[in-house]
Amino acid sequence: MVRMAVIGCGYWGPNLIRNFQNTAGCELRAISDLNAQRLDHVGRQYPHVRRTSDHRTILTDPDIDAVAVATPVSTHYPLGKDVLEAGKHLFIEKPMCASAADCRKLVDIARRRGLQIMVGHTFLFTPAVRKIRELMRSGELGDVYYVNITRVNLGLFQPDINVVWDLAPHDIAMLNHLFDSGPSIVSATGRSYVRSGNEDVAFLTLEYPGNQIAHIHVSWLDPNKIRQATFVGSRKMLVYDDVSSLEKIRVYDKGVEKLSHYDNFGEFQLSYRYGDIVIPRVDQTEPLKIEAAHFVACLEGREEPVSDGSVGLQVVEVLERVCESIRQEGKPVSCSPA
Ligand SMILES: NC(=O)c1ccc[n+]([C@@H]2O[C@H](COP(=O)([O-])OP(=O)(O)OC[C@H]3O[C@@H](n4cnc5c(N)ncnc54)[C@H](O)[C@@H]3O)[C@@H](O)[C@H]2O)c1
Repeated sequence: MVRMAVIGCGYWGPNLIRNFQNTAGCELRAISDLNAQRLDHVGRQYPHVRRTSDHRTILTDPDIDAVAVATPVSTHYPLGKDVLEAGKHLFIEKPMCASAADCRKLVDIARRRGLQIMVGHTFLFTPAVRKIRELMRSGELGDVYYVNITRVNLGLFQPDINVVWDLAPHDIAMLNHLFDSGPSIVSATGRSYVRSGNEDVAFLTLEYPGNQIAHIHVSWLDPNKIRQATFVGSRKMLVYDDVSSLEKIRVYDKGVEKLSHYDNFGEFQLSYRYGDIVIPRVDQTEPLKIEAAHFVACLEGREEPVSDGSVGLQVVEVLERVCESIRQEGKPVSCSPA
């Protein structure tokens, strides 16, 4: 039995609390928040769980094995360090830390102490993303040429980070996972229209070593909530709409082929294929349920971590390069693929 505590009962923490509470092999022992009202509001739904405004009382409790951190990004490093130094496994929300240097320090402490870190990159556990990975692996899409992602909505403006650090970790983690690599070069432009110095809209371009290009549009300034990714492959094309409840993935048997024989430029022709559209069945399980169960399975040695500290670090390294490019008005910045 893994005995868990969760620090942070704001917007996201309660989702972790609910899922760890309902995960087989896991027992939720304590929750913490500095805000007494939030702690009381969330705590009333779990009367058997200890509540504390001081996270240090969790760290000194020998009956707690692992701690999840769902607090603002600027607090991830100090809290994560406290958790690991107290000898407890760490589940930490995305992005892992506010800098790659801090991520490396956490990875190092965990390695030295033989502890696990799992980063809450929820999209790696989303059944639709797992399906896309399966389709890519099976060659269904052919060679993926490019991916275009839109992740926009109105708000929620975050006090301590820009929109890239808030929204793009999902897409970067997903792309790195699907391409089995980090990008080799990134470039990005962004603007701070509402608050100075904190971009609320950004357009990112990531080039992957396999010659794929990914474009990501993130914004807190858009009238509609859109979570859409289009994958264009040499065989088929795929549209993933995370907002759709029933038809999350559509696979289009559409493409363009060069005819193999032509004698002169006048005869040069392309053939366009307009085939069927298939909507594959995608499991409806809540991603966080899979994520929580995976964390427990990793601690019990039954599964290999999909989103460990090195995965979290790689995402943060890309975020840093993207922001470097934004500061240089879109200049391409090299990343070393992991
Ligand atoms: N995986 C996902 O899909 C997903 C979605 C949303 C947010 N998140 C991540 O979750 C984290 C939290 O985001 P949020 O939107 O819930 O923020 P939030 O501001 O709504 O909540 C954070 C909570 O942490 C509490 N807190 C801060 N410092 C604390 C401390 N030292 N001890 C105890 N409590 C403390 C605050 O009082 C607040 O209630 C962020 O890292 C965010 O990126 C992840």
